[in-house]
Amino acid sequence: MSQIIIQGGERLEGTLRVQGAKNSVLPILAATILHPGQTVLRGCPHLSDVEASIRILQHLGCEAQWEGEDLTVNAAPMGRWDIPDHLMREMRSSVIFLGAVLARFGWAEMSYPGGCELGPRPIDLHLSTLRRLGADLREEGGRLRCAAQQMEGREIALGIPSVGATENAILAACGAEGETVLVNAAREPEIVDLQNFLCAMGCKVRGAGSSTICIAGRQETHDATYSVMPDRIVAATWLSAVAAVGGEVELEHINYRHLSTVTAALHEAGCRISGGEGKIGLRSEGRLRAISAVRTAPYPGFPTDAQAVLMAALLRSKGATVFVENIFENRYRHVDELRRMGADISVADRVAVVTGTSELYGAPVRATDLRGGAALMVAGLAAEGETRIGDIQHIQRGYEDPVRDLRKLGAAIRLE
Ligand code: EPZ
Repeated sequence: MSQIIIQGGERLEGTLRVQGAKNSVLPILAATILHPGQTVLRGCPHLSDVEASIRILQHLGCEAQWEGEDLTVNAAPMGRWDIPDHLMREMRSSVIFLGAVLARFGWAEMSYPGGCELGPRPIDLHLSTLRRLGADLREEGGRLRCAAQQMEGREIALGIPSVGATENAILAACGAEGETVLVNAAREPEIVDLQNFLCAMGCKVRGAGSSTICIAGRQETHDATYSVMPDRIVAATWLSAVAAVGGEVELEHINYRHLSTVTAALHEAGCRISGGEGKIGLRSEGRLRAISAVRTAPYPGFPTDAQAVLMAALLRSKGATVFVENIFENRYRHVDELRRMGADISVADRVAVVTGTSELYGAPVRATDLRGGAALMVAGLAAEGETRIGDIQHIQRGYEDPVRDLRKLGAAIRLE
């Protein structure tokens, strides 16, 4: 099994173009089946989660073809509405196909998505939203059998602003008769990207980015070409890496407003931040300072997906920083691995306190989940000596080629 090997301590400097957003392209890939024709996704990141989505599309009868960073999907030949267990389990967010398959066919059959490293990943909000639209969902032996021959648009209030449930509701509502209004919808930028893609295909969706989203169902769709938005969490990762070890970076192909809570935290820690059209610059000299409490929250609050990498950047800071993880129950699995590198972190339930130490030491560690694995890369860059990261399949779910990108900044990093 490959490992990522890092010799820490190298100052990072240079320019990086940010890859397309995993959490935008995954719902957009599900959305392609709403149109029985061709869609071209420009700037689609080459990720294992994207390959898993493509396998699901191909199982359903769709065609998918890469051309560099562009992915062309032809959903005209789609002829099935069932997703087998092994494909559902490959990717936690495979449930996002439920709404789109129901909208296209009025039937769907799939198993519950695999749980994941972050704790239980319930889909009760997904299912209750689809039932509100008139879908008949039955669980039989771990498989969900769904019938939705005639979904009716209506007002639906989400108990919590769940990103996935919002996306599933939008996709299902595209197949419902009349208008659907989602209240207390998630406001993440990836949902705005999904809306923009759907509208490019002829659907009628408005309000994404706010808590109220309106969908007019059963629109005539047509072929479309769409550029996927940049990945704000990958951008947060690279900024955290340069902040941790010192240096200067300019990120291209990024909307600095999408990660303003992350750049605010890094600025408070002592980094110099500059934001321009499509760019973010960061300069970090000397030891970072501890910052005020970091509380993860739905967008536009501090993103839970950036919690681990910011924590890694602060491991050698002066002082102590409190983290409160409000979104997921079990999102501190990277802490034990960071402790193996000399980190001083104490955890009690949703709270983690990071007390900066002057030194971190390279060590053999293992990625526990996608962003926890990214945190190990950030810590390894700042540590003395060699860090060997195992179980990097977690990292490959969301980072196209971290060795390529970090090497471009001067990191002593390789894949073995
Ligand atoms: C999306 O997951 C992202 N994944 C996650 O990114 C991200 O951390 C999360 O949103 C929050 O921003 C994708 O977009 C593919 P939620 P999702 O539904 O949709 C609970 C990464 O690292 N909940 O907003 O699963 C849930 O348990 C990944 O890129 C229910 O209780 O997140 C969680 O505690 C990790 N019932 C909270 O809501 C439901 O039906 C927020 O989850 C659905 C969710």
